[in-house]
Amino acid sequence: MSRLVIVSNRVTVPEPGKPPPPGGLAIAVKAAFKNRPGIWFGWSGKIDDNPNTEPTVAERDNITYVVTDLATADYQEYYNGFANRVLWPILHYRVDLAEFSRSDLSGYLRVNGLFADKLSQFLQPDDTIWVHDYHLIPLARELRSRGHQNPLGFFLHIPCPPPDLLFTIPRQEQSLGVMSHYDLIGFQTDNDRDNYARYLQISGAHMGRDGQSYQHEGRVTRIGTFPVGIETAEYARDAEHAAHSDFLRELRESLSGRQLFVGVDRLDYSKGIVHRIEAFDHFLETEPNWRNRVVFLQITPKSRAEIPEYGDMGRAVNELVGDVNGRYGEASWTPIRYINRPYGREDLAGIFRLAAAALVTPLRDGMNLVAKEYVAAQDAEDPGVLILSQFAGAAAELEGALIVNPHETEGMAAAMKTALLMPRDERKSRHAVMYEAIAKNDIEHWVETFLNSLTESKKPPFMAQIR
Ligand code: ADP
Ligand code: G6P
Repeated sequence: MSRLVIVSNRVTVPEPGKPPPPGGLAIAVKAAFKNRPGIWFGWSGKIDDNPNTEPTVAERDNITYVVTDLATADYQEYYNGFANRVLWPILHYRVDLAEFSRSDLSGYLRVNGLFADKLSQFLQPDDTIWVHDYHLIPLARELRSRGHQNPLGFFLHIPCPPPDLLFTIPRQEQSLGVMSHYDLIGFQTDNDRDNYARYLQISGAHMGRDGQSYQHEGRVTRIGTFPVGIETAEYARDAEHAAHSDFLRELRESLSGRQLFVGVDRLDYSKGIVHRIEAFDHFLETEPNWRNRVVFLQITPKSRAEIPEYGDMGRAVNELVGDVNGRYGEASWTPIRYINRPYGREDLAGIFRLAAAALVTPLRDGMNLVAKEYVAAQDAEDPGVLILSQFAGAAAELEGALIVNPHETEGMAAAMKTALLMPRDERKSRHAVMYEAIAKNDIEHWVETFLNSLTESKKPPFMAQIR
């Protein structure tokens, strides 16, 4: 078996007793190493301005972690700049929040070159290389220009909007336009893949007859849909176990028989947290009978806090939570419990199992693993209800959810009431359909199908089809 080399922006070497940082990518990537040895390369999360510092290497289980620090200018221009103030907002359909500068784009391209330099010394010719997410789109070009001919795949964890939005990215040909150096590009949904295919057509690429491949500047690249999954069976076991923990007992007692709504997201404007709280406000306003009978627990660790748009959004949430709690709260009941820190996986799984409904209502999301974790965590005999945004990638798979439009406050408030009143039989049948979907398409399935497709894309019959 060839080694798997995974490259992603943020790589956290596990430490005992420390929960992994929140974020779907890291959870998915870690699972990819389950049955195969390999290297996980990326940024350590630390800043170091000494250009001679070598990457740090650490072995944990069958993963060799190779992490490199970033200099202050790289961190600002590449991470806080082009990746998270241009690509993240625009790929999440938020052109209004994007802030472009040429120095940030230069920093983005420079760091991709630096990553290729540092990774090169660890690569062997038969390694399979799998690059993840929007920070590292130009990495394949950088690796190819250093002579690496390995199979090279890319997976975009976040949405890919229609071409009109992609063309708002200044100088997009330098970032999105260099994807043809990959052998395979994976998207979360057919919609994302089709949007990218249309962008390619407009940009002059020659599409294959099957619509699943294209030719550009003499190279052939396959494109496909690979909806990311979770470790479904393990997650379900964790949740069952967690239901008996002291932590869960205390939480259950603190509710004094009230129903629980849960929201779990990084503090990110794409997650629709403001819209969600407004809907909960509307629900309490229009359904006074439910006041003091339901608690909304929103667990939201801070994310990318140095970026102004994140600070603005955090302040808006603080204000809104205070406003709702002030208006409806009583001495013995706080409507919204708002927490800004991560929880361990088992505790979260237990919270999901206890909650009567999960509010997973992003304005846009590549997939949203929280939605799948909530389904996995339920007691199949008495499951809770998933309230899910139509704009999360997960909505394409989770047909048993109550699908909502996060821009419609009344619709979301109505779904909250429906969830609380839903008969057990209906909850069970909706849950069964969803559990079947996430059991079939679990994380192992995702890894296998992507890597098999990457191997296929290097074989001659596929190459012949397009030429
Ligand atoms: P994103 O990747 O945009 O953050 P996802 O929903 O796809 O969104 O993935 C988030 C991952 O991070 C999930 O596995 C979720 O359990 C985890 N996570 C989110 N919030 C927390 C939290 N407060 N504590 C611990 N883990 C969290
Ligand atoms: C999302 C992105 C990942 C990112 C994660 C956490 O899942 O798709 O690429 O790692 O959020 O964000 P951060 O900026 O803290 O790494």
